[in-house]
Amino acid sequence: MPNVVLVGAQWGDEGKGKVTDLIAPQFDYVVRYQGGNNAGHTVINGGKKLALHLIPSGVMYKSAIPVIGNGVVVNPQVLVEEMQMLESEGLSCERLKISCDAHVIMPYHIALDQASEFKLGKNEIGTTNRGIGPCYQDKAARSGIRIQDLLDEKVFRMKVAAALEVKNAILEKVYGKEGFTLEEICDAYLPYADVIRPHMAETALMLNQAVRMGKNILFEGAQGTLLDIDHGTYPFVTSSACCAGGAATGSGVGPTAIDRVLGIQKAYVTRVGAGPFPTELLYAENGGEGQDAIDGDILCTEGHEYGVTTGRKRRCGWFDAVIARYAAEVNGLTDIALTKLDVLSAFDEIKICVAYECNGETYDYFPMQQSVLFHAKPLYKTMPGWKGQDITGAKSFEDLPQTCQDYVLEIERLSGVRASIVSVGPDHDQTLLRG
Ligand code: GTP
Repeated sequence: MPNVVLVGAQWGDEGKGKVTDLIAPQFDYVVRYQGGNNAGHTVINGGKKLALHLIPSGVMYKSAIPVIGNGVVVNPQVLVEEMQMLESEGLSCERLKISCDAHVIMPYHIALDQASEFKLGKNEIGTTNRGIGPCYQDKAARSGIRIQDLLDEKVFRMKVAAALEVKNAILEKVYGKEGFTLEEICDAYLPYADVIRPHMAETALMLNQAVRMGKNILFEGAQGTLLDIDHGTYPFVTSSACCAGGAATGSGVGPTAIDRVLGIQKAYVTRVGAGPFPTELLYAENGGEGQDAIDGDILCTEGHEYGVTTGRKRRCGWFDAVIARYAAEVNGLTDIALTKLDVLSAFDEIKICVAYECNGETYDYFPMQQSVLFHAKPLYKTMPGWKGQDITGAKSFEDLPQTCQDYVLEIERLSGVRASIVSVGPDHDQTLLRG
């Protein structure tokens, strides 16, 4: 395996966890390059499910070095707890490397995230309230605290004291919340330095040396293309560069070292939180009606599309080829992993959105203006399904019913990218590799 970036090609929850677990053992390094503990997937260790939110899944494999790159924002408490959890499960974190340049999520970031979402009320962005956005804001404002600062008490105290002057004023005056004292932050954070010290590294240097030595690197993306701060459905996005380009800036490895970009997409689409979603099949409780509401419910139930922390139903809709083409372009996808194809076995007919219609105009590309995306009416191509035929036991692509193969081939044709991995169930062996 050469150097590969794995990215979500939709709005997250595409099944990146399964695909990462499947391919990660073939890599020497597994690198997180953006986001923070707002990501996460479940990995299986000896039959037991473990939730990872910050540490790359490479920690599961003795052959791989897990790396938290400079583009990640780190909550040290979450990091330490996750390391303790893994160690208690017999998984050593000794090999974990953390970039000296990664930014640290501070208590005031979390307080500001929560206060700001609360103030926005029904207009909230739908953040995870974990301080990720405010931490990236400080990074951009050049007032952030980095991992290396945590290891230098004098610098840490100076930077936090300066930050608190502003943060406390905002918390108290804008949001009517209590601020923080320098001492309480130092008491809570400085002890983390001892845990982090052995893991801190100049990870960009380390990874570039690895590239020169011909080692294989997996860049593990979190969230998804349409949640990218630049290329997503702004402002209903996350605060980091989830797209493939983020792998370069978030790790310090240049784009020319990247050989393949694998986009993970579900055979349908889901979205959590607010924002435009052209192919959404509205639930009856949200004003949906007729066959659309029924189909939306089937996707949700068959796909177990419920939020991991909230338990709320995810918004579901038909596959959107306009999005697929867009994701192919902005990420430079070389391959697709198409997941959850088995969920569509519940349908007589399956729709694929091939273009949008808005104000009398047809869009077969991602529209420039978000208002168009909000009002876009999907133009569908209907394909026959394979209802009643269980595909979860298929061992090769050719084992799939012809209508199912045709569906995958049509997605390939419309996206312009080969589906080299097709997933027909949650387990590792329910994966069809097409080379
Ligand atoms: P985020 O990083 O939060 O975006 O999530 P993710 O992309 O890592 O998604 P995750 O791995 O959590 O996958 C979602 C769920 O889908 C998990 O419970 C998987 O076991 C399940 N899953 C993955 N692939 C398939 C599949 O092909 N079929 C079925 N039925 N379930 C699948």
